[in-house]
Amino acid sequence: MSLPSKNHIYFFANWKMYLDTEQSIALAQVYQTTIATHHERIRTVVFPSSLAFSSVSGFLQSTSVALGAQHAYWVERGGYTGEVSMDMYKKAGAAYVLIGHSERRHIFHESNHDVRQQIERALEVGLVPVVCVGETAEEREKGETDKIIEIQVRAAFEDIKWNKEQLCVIAYEPVWAVGTGNACDPLEAERMHQLVKTIVSGLTPQMEPIMLYGGSVRAENVRSFLEQKHIDGVLVGQASTQESSILNLIEHIS
Ligand code: PGA
Repeated sequence: MSLPSKNHIYFFANWKMYLDTEQSIALAQVYQTTIATHHERIRTVVFPSSLAFSSVSGFLQSTSVALGAQHAYWVERGGYTGEVSMDMYKKAGAAYVLIGHSERRHIFHESNHDVRQQIERALEVGLVPVVCVGETAEEREKGETDKIIEIQVRAAFEDIKWNKEQLCVIAYEPVWAVGTGNACDPLEAERMHQLVKTIVSGLTPQMEPIMLYGGSVRAENVRSFLEQKHIDGVLVGQASTQESSILNLIEHIS
């Protein structure tokens, strides 16, 4: 996948814990037959569950649909019950890894420090980090949104070793918009993407992140995000897990 260009639209599909292995393969087939073969402008990455990962990876091998891990641990191997390492995902066909998703931060208490460890390891093993940042409803109400985003972005990238060829994806996903049906206003999302880009270019000028919006993206609102100058694509959860909503979304994207 090349650096962001307005000729491409990035569609990242986070399947979360919605699908078992059989359902994941069936859905992978939908992605392969609809998006991969008919919509070359759309760059698609799917994030199956850890259980379904290998089967989906085998199925999508040699197609243009790329794969990512929803979560991975930064140690290569060892006594870490329940975890799967970045190295293992890489060997199983992953090209991307989600890092700092709001459900990981808020349900599983992952810290900014954990996020940083994961980014560094992803870069070492050659996975593209998809770093998620976003404020809670409470932080927004208190007027702390910009400050929180700056803290998260700084913790992720300050003093990080970066070379120009390394790809990075950053998703702005306000916590209150994820899985709620209550998407962010597109102009406010655009403002936040601009803010993230400004902070990143101050910290790591050689980085040119692909910028995604995520949080209750649906067929009805997807265009309003993609029309924004600083938004290159979308990170979609629920609406990416059913054939009918995927087809509907794709129709509105392309
Ligand atoms: P959603 O999830 O589209 O279901 O709100 C987005 C995400 O978790 O990335």
